[in-house]
Amino acid sequence: MKLFRLILLSLICSLSVEGRSTSSPNVRTAYLHESGGAAGSPQTNLASLQVSGTSGLTMQLGPRSEALLRRSHRLFVPPISELPPFEPSPTDVEPPPSVVDSRPRFRGELDEEVLAKLCSLQVKSIRPLGGGSSIKLRVTFVDGSQAAVKPNQLRITRYQAEVAAYKLSRALGLAVVPPSCVRTFSKEALQTGMPKDLRERMDQELVVDEHGNVKTAVIQWVSGLRNMKLEQADWWRPLLKTGEPIPSGKHKRVAEISTLLLFDYLLLNFDRWSGGNTTEADGEMIYIDQGAGFGPDKKHGHSRLMLKTLKWSERFPRHLAHSLFQLDLPALRADFGDLVTDEEWESFLYRVEHARAYLKSLKKQHPKDSLL
Ligand SMILES: Nc1ncnc2c1ncn2[C@@H]1O[C@H](COP(=O)(O)OP(=O)(O)OP(=O)(O)O)[C@@H](O)[C@H]1O
Ligand SMILES: [Mg+2]
Repeated sequence: MKLFRLILLSLICSLSVEGRSTSSPNVRTAYLHESGGAAGSPQTNLASLQVSGTSGLTMQLGPRSEALLRRSHRLFVPPISELPPFEPSPTDVEPPPSVVDSRPRFRGELDEEVLAKLCSLQVKSIRPLGGGSSIKLRVTFVDGSQAAVKPNQLRITRYQAEVAAYKLSRALGLAVVPPSCVRTFSKEALQTGMPKDLRERMDQELVVDEHGNVKTAVIQWVSGLRNMKLEQADWWRPLLKTGEPIPSGKHKRVAEISTLLLFDYLLLNFDRWSGGNTTEADGEMIYIDQGAGFGPDKKHGHSRLMLKTLKWSERFPRHLAHSLFQLDLPALRADFGDLVTDEEWESFLYRVEHARAYLKSLKKQHPKDSLL
C-alpha cells in the first residue's frame, strides 16, 4: 500500500506544472518540477519537507525562480514574504460570459423595437393591398418602413384575431408571426387616394366609431414573402404521422407545419387551407393571415371540428409541447385584453385543455415518435 502511494505520488510529481490560477492569474502559488539537475542550488529561504526517505520527493517553500532552476520532485511554495497581502485584482482575466439576450425577435429585429415603430410612427402613405376577400391595406411610414393593415370590418377578417395571434405566438415562444398592434385611423385617412370601388366597399364594410375612426391591426411587413401553396402539395401529410420516417432535410418543414396546425387549432383559425395562406420568407415559414381566428364557438362546435385538423399531425416539436403545458394563462388573458371576449377566452381554454390531452395521449401511445 505504501509502495502504491509512493508510485502515485511520483506520477503526480512527474508532471511539470507551472500553473497560474485561472481565477487569479497573477498570483503565484506552487510549482512542481521534475527532479534531476541543479544540484547544490541554494537552499536558503526554502522550507523543505521530506516525504519519503527513499523517493526523493520533497516539498519546499521558495521563490519561483528557484523552482525553474530545479529539476527535482519538489513542491515549491513561495515564502511568506513573497505572498501578497491580498489577492491583486487580475488584469488579464477573461471577461464574464455575456448574458444571453432572450428578448423576442422577429427575423433578427427585437419585437419591442419593431412594435415601437409600428404602433406610433407617422404614416406617409396608404395603398390597397391587392384584391381578395377582405379589405386590407399597405402603409408606408415616414421612415420608409411598411406594414399590412387590416381594418375593423363587418365580414371575413377580425383585426383583433390578427393581434391576438401574434400575442399567442409569443406566449408559445414562437417567432413566426409578424409583430402587430392595434392602431386607430380616421376612415378618411384610410380612404384617401383609394380606387373608387374600394372606397365604396369601405363605406359599406368598415366598422367606424362615432368619431369617424376605425380600429386596425397594423402588421409588420415581411419582405420576400412567398406563397408556399402547401394546400396543393401532399408530400408533407404522411410525414406528420408517427412511424413514418422523415427524410433528411424535411424535419424543419414538418415541424413548422405541425406547429402551424397546433397554432391554428388554439386560435380557432379555420382559414389556413383554403388557399394562399401558407407562406415563407428566406426558407422560414411565416404565419400570416390569422384574421379568421376566434369568433363564436357555440357549444364548442367549431373547436370540435378544428380538432380533426389538428389530428392531421401526430408529431409536434418538443419545445412547443413544453410551451403549451407551461402556458401562463392568466398572463395571456391579461395580454389579450379586449382583443377577445370572455366567451372567446372560454372557448380558447377549452382548446388548450383538449390540445394538452391530445399531446399527452400521443406521448403515451408513441413515446419515442410523437415529439420532434
Ligand atoms: N405582413 C405582411 N407582409 C408581407 N406581405 C403581406 C403581409 N400581410 C399580407 N401580405 C400579402 O397580402 C396577401 C393577402 O394577405 P392576407 O392573406 O393576410 O389577407 P386576406 O384577407 O386573406 O386576403 P386574401 O383573400 O387575398 O388572401 C398575402 O398573401 C401576402 O402576399
Ligand atoms: Mg389570406
